Amino acid sequence: MTLAEIAETLVGRGKGILAMDESIATCNKRLASVGLSGTEALRRAWRDLIVTTPNLGSCISGAILADETIRQTTLDGRPFVRALDEAGIIVGIKVDLGAKDMAGFPGEKITEGLDGLRDRLAEYAVLGARFAKWRAVITIGDGLPSRGCIEANAHALARYAALVQEAGLVPIVEPELLMTGSHTLEQCAAATEAVLSSVFEQLATGRVVLDGMILKPNMVLPGLDAAEQDPEDVVARATIACLLHVVPAEVAGIAFLSGGQSGELASARLAAINAIAAARYTRVPWPLTFSFARAIQWPALQIWAGRDANLARAQVALLKRANCNRAALVGDYDQAMELRSA
Ligand code: 13P
Repeated sequence: MTLAEIAETLVGRGKGILAMDESIATCNKRLASVGLSGTEALRRAWRDLIVTTPNLGSCISGAILADETIRQTTLDGRPFVRALDEAGIIVGIKVDLGAKDMAGFPGEKITEGLDGLRDRLAEYAVLGARFAKWRAVITIGDGLPSRGCIEANAHALARYAALVQEAGLVPIVEPELLMTGSHTLEQCAAATEAVLSSVFEQLATGRVVLDGMILKPNMVLPGLDAAEQDPEDVVARATIACLLHVVPAEVAGIAFLSGGQSGELASARLAAINAIAAARYTRVPWPLTFSFARAIQWPALQIWAGRDANLARAQVALLKRANCNRAALVGDYDQAMELRSA
């Protein structure tokens, strides 16, 4: 398949992407939140539960794995990559090495992982990955984000994306503006627009082919501690307006991150965004889907909590969140879906 065909299959067919690419440290943190210790065996068991969820492929087009996960196998001995392939789910791989403190820019981060990336991509392609992800982390605050932080992260995203396309994989370009803080929706909109403008300038300079890449942005939201929490339709309008200002029409698609929103809120906002995009007057040129981690995984992790007896119920809960998000893409999502038992 060409890059454009892989990208279209990921974002353009009424399904979305499941991010299950938490680093070892982050996965251990998630396990600890339900009282489990961070061992390789438990991380494998949790990811096994996810990849063997019956019918997952009816809602999920692609799954993003981490370096440890792409090498693991299910209890019955199938590589995760094969289990996903048999479920009709395309395998992706997170290739950044994390966001580190940026020298000279207190309170800001720069994502590392470009050194040796060409060789790592060649190995991931052999292991079965067809797409990749790199996440930049941007903080909104007093005087933040700074120009220096925006440009350094945008440049790294473009270099990553060019290397990924050279390796024959589709890059997911993820500049995430964090929800933490008390900023307003308008401040988030201005900062997101500034970041995305810089990212697309660098992608153009870096000769990245836009119809062979996917943008993974934050929704335009007020900070978690903001006094005013805007309703879904305001969030949806602001998000689409921001994207229309700065994202070229050639981009294959847009897959939102959830960023720590609850599963229900993320689905409701995704549905509102797609409802506006479907209206004839908006002329949105890209498919708008999801690439959620926490907003899909969290209820299932709480139910499972490491116990085999809870496994089937946890898989039903995982599929429910995946299905709510699928429904949000096509106008089928409503509150009644949430009330039905998982
Ligand atoms: P969340 O949906 O939990 O924000 O994760 C998405 C992701 O892949 C972050 O890189």
